[in-house]
Amino acid sequence: MTRTRLISALAALSLLAPTSANTVLWNVVRNEDVQAAQLQRRSAVLQRRSLDRRAGTVTAALANAETQGLYAANITIGTPPQSFGVQIDTGSSDMWVPSAAACQDTQQVQGGCPNGQFDQTASSTFVDIEPGGFNISYVDGTGSSGDYFQDTFRIGGATLTNFEMGLATSTTIGTGIMGIGYNTSEANVDTGNGTEYANLPLAMVNQGVINSAAYSLWLDDLQATSGSVLFGGIDTEKFTGNLISVDVYPTDNQHRVTSFTVAWTSLSVSSSSGTDQLTSSDFAEAAILDSGTTITLLPDQYAEKIFEEVGAQVDEQLGAVVVPCDLQKNTGTINYAFGGPGGPTIKVSMSQLVLPLTTNTGNPLTFQNGQTVCQFGIQPAGTLPTLFGDTFLRSAYVVYDLENNQIALASTNFNAKGSNIVSFASKGAPIPSATEASNQLAVQQTATGNPRANGATATGSVATFNPTATGLNAASGFHSAGHSLEPFAWSRVVVLGLSVAFMGMGGGILLL
Ligand SMILES: *[C@@H]1O[C@H](CO)[C@@H](O)[C@H](O)[C@H]1NC(C)=O
Ligand SMILES: *[C@@H]1O[C@H](CO)[C@@H](O)[C@H](O)[C@H]1NC(C)=O
Ligand SMILES: *[C@@H]1O[C@H](CO)[C@@H](O)[C@H](O)[C@H]1NC(C)=O
Ligand SMILES: *[C@@H]1O[C@H](CO)[C@@H](O)[C@H](O)[C@H]1NC(C)=O
Repeated sequence: MTRTRLISALAALSLLAPTSANTVLWNVVRNEDVQAAQLQRRSAVLQRRSLDRRAGTVTAALANAETQGLYAANITIGTPPQSFGVQIDTGSSDMWVPSAAACQDTQQVQGGCPNGQFDQTASSTFVDIEPGGFNISYVDGTGSSGDYFQDTFRIGGATLTNFEMGLATSTTIGTGIMGIGYNTSEANVDTGNGTEYANLPLAMVNQGVINSAAYSLWLDDLQATSGSVLFGGIDTEKFTGNLISVDVYPTDNQHRVTSFTVAWTSLSVSSSSGTDQLTSSDFAEAAILDSGTTITLLPDQYAEKIFEEVGAQVDEQLGAVVVPCDLQKNTGTINYAFGGPGGPTIKVSMSQLVLPLTTNTGNPLTFQNGQTVCQFGIQPAGTLPTLFGDTFLRSAYVVYDLENNQIALASTNFNAKGSNIVSFASKGAPIPSATEASNQLAVQQTATGNPRANGATATGSVATFNPTATGLNAASGFHSAGHSLEPFAWSRVVVLGLSVAFMGMGGGILLL
């Protein structure tokens, strides 16, 4: 059983239990210091930015910690308002914050709650509506539970009254999460009293703040310390080329749409030395867009092809995919297309795929030849669903239309100076400026969440499949800087007693 919100923490799981034949489980423990440091970094990147408002839309500034792949936003709850930094998660559907009481339990919530904790006794508008009804868990074993409550909620200049949220009176996650997915994935449906409620996008519509349950998510620049989530509209200045929409597919056995599952239909790799089309013309596979996950999980065969192209190594001892940090300067791209030949293509550059990997002493880990070791932002999915996390989403301008079950994608215009916000005309109106992809390839996601179990139903074809006809044409372009990969200087690591910590993996994972 894999639920959409459960895979929000996949990044951690895939490191804890690598499912590829090339990786093994290594000694992994949680580390308080590392987690505390991560949380401090999280709070440090929450930056106040001026808010932009248009009729029928709400923009909230986002902080994006490149190293953590985390989209964070500031909100307030209660009367008088209490402030929080929360993580924006398209892969879950409940907005929750830790309670002040839960944050006292430093055994459970290591590092405390540096981005805010709710004291319900200090809010005159607090109403506890479902005591004990809130319980959300993530696949890495973390989770939160407590009550559902209603209170006044503010984001980006918009105010919602009696907005329903989770209050975590017990939690292993110290920072609140703003789940903005489908109401069918609310924790209350499975572990509460079984009913759906109006979560953030729906409550904004119900209270007349926006016209339609839809939002855009993008980053302002590639080195990105900031971006925006725009509820109820799009900003035509923030993307280049056409905004093209594709269908979102049902995910559970009742044929309900529960996650942002789209048809991923093409993978190619380009570099200065050439381009390789890695998928065949009839390729179509269900893939989930999830801003709550740092990395991108691809089917093993495609992940391994990409590793071969860019020269990434699956390191068994680390249980991670590693590359020389220099790779981030390479001009090559990984190109993904969706919805078939008429659908959008998003090119992801190496700068978005090479993530830092540091020791908990602050020292970088090096290859034997002295090159600094970084982590690669793509991992083999193994038996997990194909999932496009932040290492993909950072390169895309994405519109999530929950009303019409559509996703529109375009390349982000990182040089955007201006702003031109267009709101959805009415509830259920199509995505402004978007054209629908023609001849879409359909996919099925199984109830287990493993898209490959049932395979895809693909029709139509165009591209040519040429991965091996002439070898990997793009590969040499990734190695032109003279990268020769060598094993780590393990003896040095051991002698110095260093521990390696993965940044960006929510839980703070320490390898000894
Ligand atoms: C959030 O609030 C904190 C504390 O007031 C501030 O330092 C930070 O810049 C804010 N971040 C955003 C994204 O507005
Ligand atoms: C929350 O759900 C998990 C998994 O279903 C369960 O193990 C746990 O006991 C629940 N917590 C509470 C407080 O009900
Ligand atoms: C179920 O919970 C919701 C809030 O999550 C509440 O509005 C509703 O009244 C509850 N229903 C019952 C039967 O408890
Ligand atoms: C849940 O979402 C669906 C589709 O967006 C909507 O029609 C329905 O009214 C929502 N339910 C609640 C209780 O808000």
